[in-house]
Amino acid sequence: MSAAKQVILGAYFPGVNHDTVWSDPASGSHIDFASFEHWARTAERGKLDLLFLAEGLRLRTRGEAIFDQDVVGRPDTFTVLASLAAITEHVGLAGTINSTFNEPYELARKFATLDLLSGGRAAWNVVTSFDAPTGENFRRGGFLHPSQRYERAGETLAATRRLWDSWGSDAVVADQESGRFLRDEHVGDFSFRGEQFDIAGRFSTPRSPQGHPVVLQAGESPAGRDFAAANSDAIFSRYQRFDEARAFYTDVKARVRKAGRDPDEVKILPSAAIILGDTEADARDRHADIRSRQVDPFTSIVLAETVWNRDLSDVDPDGPVPDLEPAPDAPKWIKGRAPLTQDAHATAEAWRELGRREGLTLRQVVTKVFDRNVFVGTPSSVAAEIDRYVREGAVDGFILGSHVSPSGLDEVVDRVVPLLQDRGVFRTEYTGTTLRDNLGLAPASRFGEPGTAG
Ligand SMILES: Cc1cc2nc3c(=O)[nH]c(=O)nc-3n(C[C@H](O)[C@H](O)[C@H](O)COP(=O)(O)O)c2cc1C
Repeated sequence: MSAAKQVILGAYFPGVNHDTVWSDPASGSHIDFASFEHWARTAERGKLDLLFLAEGLRLRTRGEAIFDQDVVGRPDTFTVLASLAAITEHVGLAGTINSTFNEPYELARKFATLDLLSGGRAAWNVVTSFDAPTGENFRRGGFLHPSQRYERAGETLAATRRLWDSWGSDAVVADQESGRFLRDEHVGDFSFRGEQFDIAGRFSTPRSPQGHPVVLQAGESPAGRDFAAANSDAIFSRYQRFDEARAFYTDVKARVRKAGRDPDEVKILPSAAIILGDTEADARDRHADIRSRQVDPFTSIVLAETVWNRDLSDVDPDGPVPDLEPAPDAPKWIKGRAPLTQDAHATAEAWRELGRREGLTLRQVVTKVFDRNVFVGTPSSVAAEIDRYVREGAVDGFILGSHVSPSGLDEVVDRVVPLLQDRGVFRTEYTGTTLRDNLGLAPASRFGEPGTAG
């Protein structure tokens, strides 16, 4: 009998959206090193595959006002991950860094450095956030048309890979007797010419343990899915309910095959939260309480505004989903967050239909639609469900969040992970040394070196 399919588990640091209840007495600081330390040590204690940081490059505003539906402000990803590299040994370190506002040289240098310093544990979640309000914080403003975002992402990644490949793994000889440090004159030579970049020079950072840090992607348009299928090692998605997760999984794995790759090479990892109780009823009560605090009346209006793209402050959250038309082409009303929907009109209609069908208020619809807490139950029922999702081909694993930081992960690690281990679907010890090893991915090789091509 073949071994049971293994579950991949990551953890994202809570504190970046409406899943957070920062006013909960159990919530700590979202910027103290002690919080990141607690979170990272818990993940490593649970033998998790990776830590994951999201990114936001602008404070979120509604109209002109900053609002704290989100936790306001976050520290720099590379600094946080580098500090966590020093206090952990095995867990992967994944940073979300967008490809629109950064240059390949800087990206390649920072990720290669993180991979070097962590002994091969770095990952880059490539996002394309193109919105003009975020662009206002950068030299070029909102210079990139949405239709070009994946063109730039593709070229950024291709150029970055060329830079990583510009040093062979044997480039540093460091022979103290002969005084020869580098193997040849051409170390770091690169050139890349495309529509977005025309660069040629010498790259300064030696090849890192993974060769290419693991590449993740988060984005869901057809262009985003094709980009992920052709280029990524893993996808962070929001599709966690079983049927939608399996539909996404099937669609993306078919795209991976079409791109000429083995579907097993791309791992699909939705975000999810787990709410536990000693009984199913306990867990449901806890879930209802947490949801009512995650989506309070104001938050429900803000989340509706991300779809309608207009001021809905006159709408009663405890009334029906409004009969107003969204204004997707108007200037952005909520700035600084990724769009939550591909088609505002269809989404608004789907919400109205859900409200009518189930007799729900706007706030109840929002609470339901944005519920990421797919696993609500006892530790054993939750472990069984996670196993089922993976076994039945809906996901390869999950990236877990919690409504409080930094302690939210503790109960999952203490109560659910051991049951997954008992089932034989989750590691009891780290066996490899790199994140690629954790994820069951082949090492990245440089052209002309042993291993997989490319
Ligand atoms: C699950 C998920 C998580 C995302 N996380 C981030 C993030 O942390 N920071 C960011 O700038 N964009 C994030 N994005 C937005 C993507 O970068 C992208 O801009 C957006 O999804 C539009 O691309 P698409 O049209 O392919 O979906 C996320 C998207 C998804 C689906």
